[in-house]
Amino acid sequence: MIMKNPFLTNKQSQESFDYSDGHTPEHIAIIMDGNGRWAEKRGMPRVAGHKEGLSTVVKVVKMAVKCQVKILTLYTFSTENWKRPKQEVDTILRLPKEFLSVYLPDLIANNVRIEAIGDLENLPAHTREAMQFAIDRTRDNNGLLLNMALNYGSRNEILHAMKGLLKDINDSNQSLDELDEQQFSNYLYTAGMKEPDLLIRTGGEKRLSNFLLWQLAYTEFWFTDVLWPDFSEMEFLRALKDYRQRKRRYGGI
Ligand code: IPE
Ligand code: IPE
Ligand code: MG
Repeated sequence: MIMKNPFLTNKQSQESFDYSDGHTPEHIAIIMDGNGRWAEKRGMPRVAGHKEGLSTVVKVVKMAVKCQVKILTLYTFSTENWKRPKQEVDTILRLPKEFLSVYLPDLIANNVRIEAIGDLENLPAHTREAMQFAIDRTRDNNGLLLNMALNYGSRNEILHAMKGLLKDINDSNQSLDELDEQQFSNYLYTAGMKEPDLLIRTGGEKRLSNFLLWQLAYTEFWFTDVLWPDFSEMEFLRALKDYRQRKRRYGGI
């Protein structure tokens, strides 16, 4: 199905974009970086950048629904982000509730299912409860899976998986020789989710910052200098178009 992109106005960006030709990444993971610098450039407090970044989240979720992406994983707060000043941490951790209190009805209307990955137990109660409420309310939806990485760190995830796995192996008679990658990945927070096809990082840095180290083994990477609050529908489509040019070989020829 060929559609005009309704968000775009100039001639070049109005070129047809086929949203459903089978080459759209099924799982897109995004490191949403650059909020602080966006605000600092404007002489505003860093938290203003996080609030502005929330409107980009809304735009990108809409685009993911439109493009029939199956899973959108958003790196929202890392296990390392606790190092920031308390006021900034508090602001970031209030954003999920702010977002859901406004947009949950829209998300439900669009058949979006919400999930979270990370060490949720150590989040403030208001963050955890807002997420749990949204997860429960959208459990039966089968459209886009909006997966929020909250208090997420890949090393924490791998260690958490190891502990669960070792406990189960201790409690069973399973021989270690039978342990395989599939079984191990079932202990990760992302158990049951297809691995990301495309990773987008905004804000110019070329690193993973402890994001999905296991799951990104064969993912295509796309970096942009655009700061997250400035990331637009057009940039999102640029990433998708670039992805279509990639040849994924998985070690084959
Ligand atoms: C990303 O923006 C958001 C979070 C890490 C929560 P930053 O706050 O890291 O913005 P910069 O990188 O300092 O510009
Ligand atoms: C990664 O961004 C974490 C999130 C986007 C939530 P950071 O800004 O924390 O990463 P570093 O510190 O530049 O590696
Ligand atoms: Mg940053």
